[in-house]
Amino acid sequence: MKNNVKKAWWKEMTRFHENIVGLDAAILMSPGIWEASGHLTAGFADELVECKKCHKRFRIDEIQNPRCPDCGGQLTEPRKFNLMMKTFVGPVEDKASSAYLRAETCQGIYVNFLNVLNSSRKTIPFGIAQIGKSFRNEITPGNFIYRTREFEQMEMQWFCHPKEADKFFEYWKEERMNWYLKLGIKKESLKFYEVPKSDLAHYAKRAVDIEYKFPFGWKEIEGIHNRGDWDLSNHSKHSGQDLRFFNEEKKERYFPYIIETSAGADRSFLTFLTDAYQEVKGGRTKTTEAVKEEESFLKFNKAIAPVKVAVLPLVKNKENITKKAREIYSTLKTDFVCQYDEVGSIGRRYRRQDEIGTPFCLTVDFETLEKDDVTLRDRDTMKQERIKISDLIKVIKEKLEN
Ligand code: GAP
Repeated sequence: MKNNVKKAWWKEMTRFHENIVGLDAAILMSPGIWEASGHLTAGFADELVECKKCHKRFRIDEIQNPRCPDCGGQLTEPRKFNLMMKTFVGPVEDKASSAYLRAETCQGIYVNFLNVLNSSRKTIPFGIAQIGKSFRNEITPGNFIYRTREFEQMEMQWFCHPKEADKFFEYWKEERMNWYLKLGIKKESLKFYEVPKSDLAHYAKRAVDIEYKFPFGWKEIEGIHNRGDWDLSNHSKHSGQDLRFFNEEKKERYFPYIIETSAGADRSFLTFLTDAYQEVKGGRTKTTEAVKEEESFLKFNKAIAPVKVAVLPLVKNKENITKKAREIYSTLKTDFVCQYDEVGSIGRRYRRQDEIGTPFCLTVDFETLEKDDVTLRDRDTMKQERIKISDLIKVIKEKLEN
C-alpha cells in the first residue's frame, strides 16, 4: 500500500507535470552540506523541552512553570537538542570522519541542482522530485507511524524566478491539496494552516501546511514552503561553486527561488488508511452476506488499495472449480496484485476482502465451468455481474482506471 502511495505521487509529479524530473540523491553527504543548510546551527542546538501532548518545543528560558504554555501538557526534561542523527564514515571515530543521516531529502536536490539543470535540458521554471528516507532524532515519536525517527519523504523542489515565487506558491498549494482530494480523501477532513511568522523554519519565507483530521486531532501531513534563495545562496557560499542560474536571453544571473512541496509517505499512508475506514452498524446487507452486527471495511481509492482482485472458488474441494479458479488466478496475477482464498464461507471471504479494501472479488462457480464466465463483485456497491473469462483483464483494467 505504501508503494502505491509513492507510485501515485511519483506519477502525479513526474508524469502529469512535464517540467519535473526525478532524482535519487545520497543519504550520507558531506557534513559541510548540513552546516550550509543551517541544520547544524540555526535554532537546532538550543536547550529545549518538548510538550508530550502537543509536541511543541520550547526553549528552557521561555518556560515559566513546568507545564506546556500552549496546552498545559507535561514537559520532557530539558536537553541540548539537535535533530540530526550523527554517524561516522571511514575507520576512525574522530571529528574529521563524522557524518549525518539526512534530516530532509531536499538538500540532496539543492547540491545537485546544477548537475540536473545541465544534463536534463530544463530551464527555469522547473522542478526536481525525490522520494527517500529521512532521519530525525525525535524526542517524542508516536501516534502510530505519525511521528517516527526514520521516515520517508516525497519532496518536490520548484526552481523559479524570484518575481514568480508567490504565484507558484499559490499554484503548488492548490495542486497538492487536489492530489489528496483526487485520491478520495474527504474534503471536510483536510485544511490549510498558514504557519505564523514566529513558527517558520529557519529557511522559510512562508509556509502553509496541509492538515488532516486524524482521530488524535488536526495534524500536518505536508508543508508547502517558499524557501527563497536560502539554500542555493548558502550552498554557493560554503562550497565556492556558483549555483546561480544564467538567463542567456536577458543576460541575467540570479539565485532561483525555491517553492517546495514536502509530503511524508508514512503520514500519507496513515491518512489514506484512516480516511478509508468505514463502520456499518448492523452489517452491510441483511441477506446472504451479513455475518455480524457491525462490519468494517476500507473504502480505498482503487489506486491505493494494496490488493486489487481476490479470486474465490465458490466451493472448496470441488476439483474442477478449484482448478479453474487457480488457472484464473495464475493468469491475473501478472497484471494485478491478487489474492486466492478458498477458506471459509463465501460471505466470510467477501468480508475479509472488504476489510483490507480489495476493490473486486471474483467468484468461480458451477456456471463458470459451462459458460466460461465468472461473477465480479464490486466492494462499494456489492453489485455482481457476470464477465467472460477472456474479457477479465480488459474489464478489470478499465474499472481500476475509473
Ligand atoms: N524539506 C522540508 C521539510 O522537511 P518538514 O515540515 O520538517 O519540512 C515535511 O517535513 C514533511 O515530512 C511533514 O509534513 C511530514 O509529512 C514528514 N515528516 C517530518 N518529520 C516526520 C517524522 N518525524 N515522522 C514522520 N514524518 C515526518
